[in-house]
Amino acid sequence: MAGMILGVLVSGRGSNLAAILDAIAEGALSAKVAVVVSDRPDALALRRIEDAAPKISGVVVERGAYPTGEAFDDAIAGVLDEHGVELVVLAGFMRVLGPAFVRRFQGRVVNIHPSLLPSFPGLHAQRQALLHGVKVSGCTVHLVDETLDGGPILAQAAVPVLPGDTEESLSERILMEEHVLLPKTIQEIIEARNT
Ligand code: GRF
Repeated sequence: MAGMILGVLVSGRGSNLAAILDAIAEGALSAKVAVVVSDRPDALALRRIEDAAPKISGVVVERGAYPTGEAFDDAIAGVLDEHGVELVVLAGFMRVLGPAFVRRFQGRVVNIHPSLLPSFPGLHAQRQALLHGVKVSGCTVHLVDETLDGGPILAQAAVPVLPGDTEESLSERILMEEHVLLPKTIQEIIEARNT
């Protein structure tokens, strides 16, 4: 059984997308990625799906091609609907989706953020954590609502902040946990739906 149909939104490297695809391939995640939408044509994430089998559609939707944020969001929503997407996963998607999109996919959009929310929402979460001198940071998977990184928290994983950490070293330690937490949380959503 193919399981839940996912649409993954990306802007860059796509390592979380790769973690999702690996979990599916290993049978740890009962899902199928039907489409990957990127707002950047050069995103490495799109290259990761070039040779995927079964094939995964990669679609570029650039903000600059639309007059308003709402029109951009509508274009993305249209692509997701065309592919029958049941759950939308924001995996390094660097744009904020507006209220109309959130309402359209109410309770069906998850995001991964590299901090223990509600601490350090927004950009450069790892840098913010270092600047505040916290001793523990981590990552959060949450449902997306109309606030920035503010929707209901589904799961978190903590990592230590070590003496001498740089933004890069802390980001890398958090990223290792993201790659475990995101597929695991999606699987939990799927299992909750099936009970
Ligand atoms: C991750 O740190 C994620 O938490 C944040 O953006 C980064 C995306 O990395 N939202 P990748 O594109 O999945 O490699």
